[in-house]
Amino acid sequence: MALLTEHPAWKELQAESRRAGEWHLRDLFAADPARETHYMRTAGPLTLDFSRERLTAGALQLLRDLAEEAKWRDARDALFAGRIVNPSENRAARHPALRGPVKVDSIAESQAKMLELAEDLRAGKVKGATGKTIRNLVHVGIGGSDVGPRLLEAVLADGRGPRLRFLANADAASLRAATRGLASDETLVMLASKSFGTAEMLRNGQSLREWLAVALGPKAGAHLLAATAAPAKAKAFGVAEDRILPLDEAVGGRFSLWSAVSLAAACAMGRENFEALLSGAAEMDAHAAAAPAETNLPLISALTGIWNINLLGFTSRALLPYAEPLALLPLYLQQLEMESLGKSVSSEGRALDYATAPVVFGATGTPAQHAFMQALHQGTSVMPAEIILAGQDDGPAAHRALMQANALAQAEALAFGADGGTGPLAAQKKCGGNRPSSILLLERLDARALGALIAFYEHRVFLQGLLWGVNPFDQWGVELGKKLAAPLQAVLEGRKDSPPARVPALLQRLGGKGREGHKGP
Ligand code: F6P
Repeated sequence: MALLTEHPAWKELQAESRRAGEWHLRDLFAADPARETHYMRTAGPLTLDFSRERLTAGALQLLRDLAEEAKWRDARDALFAGRIVNPSENRAARHPALRGPVKVDSIAESQAKMLELAEDLRAGKVKGATGKTIRNLVHVGIGGSDVGPRLLEAVLADGRGPRLRFLANADAASLRAATRGLASDETLVMLASKSFGTAEMLRNGQSLREWLAVALGPKAGAHLLAATAAPAKAKAFGVAEDRILPLDEAVGGRFSLWSAVSLAAACAMGRENFEALLSGAAEMDAHAAAAPAETNLPLISALTGIWNINLLGFTSRALLPYAEPLALLPLYLQQLEMESLGKSVSSEGRALDYATAPVVFGATGTPAQHAFMQALHQGTSVMPAEIILAGQDDGPAAHRALMQANALAQAEALAFGADGGTGPLAAQKKCGGNRPSSILLLERLDARALGALIAFYEHRVFLQGLLWGVNPFDQWGVELGKKLAAPLQAVLEGRKDSPPARVPALLQRLGGKGREGHKGP
């Protein structure tokens, strides 16, 4: 597989980017009064306005030539056909199958069982070991087994269903917060972990099992559920076989919110919303699978990222969702993009001499305007912005107008800037502009649009992995930290396991006695 800089189009793109240094967005807009229509594409409930990116028609064409040389269609077709696209683990990547019209049997069954359980929990039909109605669900998971379900719940909860708690981190405060005010005999604990081997989930799961056992004794196991691709490990932990929802080994954790891992989210949003989420994603899949390069939203956005990162040298990106329910989206995309693309070796083991994953950061607008947007407007680094905006909502028009006006104003200010006037502070007040941004407009922030948006990001990540020559579906880099933590933890717990290869000086000052076990708040 050719690397980014080995494609014939690369040299011409470098020449074009040198010319790009003379362009200002003010000039590009002046040269093409219809620029905003020429640089706007719609797919289903999503519209991408990339007119404020520092692109010309020539640069776009060269970027499309690059994609052709990288055989983007063949790669895309291999993904949808369920072929091996994760070579280091010899796996397909079957997240599209989770929302496709033709599902993989065992996974369709698991999804259906999850939705049925969610509806029963919402209807108060599930009883605990003592006969009490289950009113609470504690979801235990981390990374892709946590943020996706939490994001869905934050956006689509309809106020019905069991009380939900999400327990991801392993600090005492998180553990206490997870059970505060809950009656264990009315609570189910969902152990969400594809590997069923993640230290935080196991630690929290063990503490919650103890918490259940205080009131339920040997019946505590009846209050455990699991969503995992390792059912034998879940069974060994004490989860009954009929309470284990299988996950597909060929679906990466950060691509899995469509699966049974999202039981808590389905409890919050209901079957209808969950199915609308899947259909929104399926709509984006159909677009991604069929749209030509000129109108293919994930490809256009992937190529814009290559242009900003590899040609213009802007190696970070600010994500600005102008909708508070999307507050978790920056964290979600940090994992989806930086865990998938944060690599410096190709899928064939070749060292890369160019940038890959951007540093993704962000916060909701408008609070971001009162936090870090100063740096985007006048900082020494150009940090492209990605603004997400909903067109309609059911709220007061004045609030909608304020949000939409601010989102557009930020894009305009970043692009066009303004001089600093004539006073003594002219220099300090001047905004140079020419700072790129894209706007993703959702018709409304509903299940269909959210599904389309997340699928759009998944396809963009896949295409950027192709263009950079990296495998977006493995994450070997996270294993070393986990390996080093185990012997250090043993020392801190006074266990005589194999000693750490190196004992950090600070270790002597850590540890200390806390309350043993977890008896609730
Ligand atoms: O961060 C490493 C990682 O393996 C992620 O890829 C994954 O989403 C997370 O840990 C949790 O893994 P699991 O679902 O196996 O507990």
